[in-house]
Amino acid sequence: MTMAAVQTVEVVLGDRTYDILIGEGLIARAGEEIARLPGIRVAIVTDENVAAAHLATLQASLSAHGVAAAVITLPPGEKTKSFAALETVVDGVIAAKLERGDAVIALGGGVIGDLAGFAAGIVRRGMKFIQMPTSLLAQVDSSVGGKTGINSPRGKNLIGVFHQPRLVLADTGALDTLPRREFTAGYAEVAKYGLIDRPDFFAWLEANWRDIFAGGPARTQAIAESCRAKAEVVARDEFETGDRALLNLGHTFGHALEAATDYDSARLVHGEGVAIGMALAHRFSARLNLASPDDAARVEAHLKAVGLPHRMADIPGALPDAERLLGYITQDKKVSRGALTFILTHGIGRSFIAKDVPPSEVLSFLKDNHPG
Ligand SMILES: NC(=O)c1ccc[n+]([C@@H]2O[C@H](COP(=O)([O-])OP(=O)(O)OC[C@H]3O[C@@H](n4cnc5c(N)ncnc54)[C@H](O)[C@@H]3O)[C@@H](O)[C@H]2O)c1
Ligand SMILES: [Zn+2]
Repeated sequence: MTMAAVQTVEVVLGDRTYDILIGEGLIARAGEEIARLPGIRVAIVTDENVAAAHLATLQASLSAHGVAAAVITLPPGEKTKSFAALETVVDGVIAAKLERGDAVIALGGGVIGDLAGFAAGIVRRGMKFIQMPTSLLAQVDSSVGGKTGINSPRGKNLIGVFHQPRLVLADTGALDTLPRREFTAGYAEVAKYGLIDRPDFFAWLEANWRDIFAGGPARTQAIAESCRAKAEVVARDEFETGDRALLNLGHTFGHALEAATDYDSARLVHGEGVAIGMALAHRFSARLNLASPDDAARVEAHLKAVGLPHRMADIPGALPDAERLLGYITQDKKVSRGALTFILTHGIGRSFIAKDVPPSEVLSFLKDNHPG
């Protein structure tokens, strides 16, 4: 694979086509990139952790290029995807007297990206939006594809809009300040793209994951390949009426486990749930004679090597029983006429959408894999 210092991935969506730039030092170069949009003013939305590590660099770069910037800083964490925080952002953007042609910049992880993107989508019926993702999960997943939003007390991500960014600047060096556990969790989504439809990429990850964790060109390469994978799916199916569902590999089981652990990040963070979910999706496919058990073993071995959980037994504390876990799965919106939709696989890199999975099969699988 080629390893340029900064890689560009284009997300092709007609007149809303945009570039994702990936490489080291892009926060320090942001002013130069953003000043290309003449006369633009911006509001930076960030959280306290990211502000402490990276805000000054961004502000210096913008001011060196004459771009005026207001700053809105919020507490870190999933609770910030709320109506109250949305109000704070919307009010801050309006108070800064920004107009429709100006931009909201999200500097942070997926929480800040989803929240700031939603605000950009609704203030003045839609302002320009720039993503500057600082977590691995945000660089390979949430900053690409235009889904934005907040949580409802009744469920995650229930309120939002599709609002594509104009530009994504993914500074791979920013990940050096990300806690190791968050980096590892984000890596589950990187592996996911290999498992969906890129078997060569998965093999490359098996050989190169140490370099990706260490930083440098292999990290940039892995993030760029992940963005290309997501961009292709989004270009085919922007509003998730078909193929985009493949991106949910591992997520049906994963979301159930997140709900079953009350979204308690001390026990399980999203990427860890996805890792266990992907291992279960491969095991379940093998059990249904769709794939070889050797592939499931290979997936589990890789997740374990990088330090990700791969079994329900890896989650600290007791889990609800198999019936209750199935309840979380059937709540997860994908039940149609008694059958469940799952992303299953014929092997590594050969995932597909299965619309006719009988809940009874899922239940007996969960019983056999339940640690309790
Ligand atoms: N829009 C989408 O398509 C999409 C896709 C996947 C996930 N998501 C959403 O993304 C969110 C999860 O994103 P996340 O995992 O990035 O969580 P996050 O934004 O909460 O970031 C994780 C933690 O890392 C900290 N952090 C981020 N970057 C840092 C850095 N460079 N240095 C130090 N600390 C840093 C944050 O302050 C936070 O404490 C969820 O709300 C999820 O619903 C959205
Ligand atoms: Zn995910």
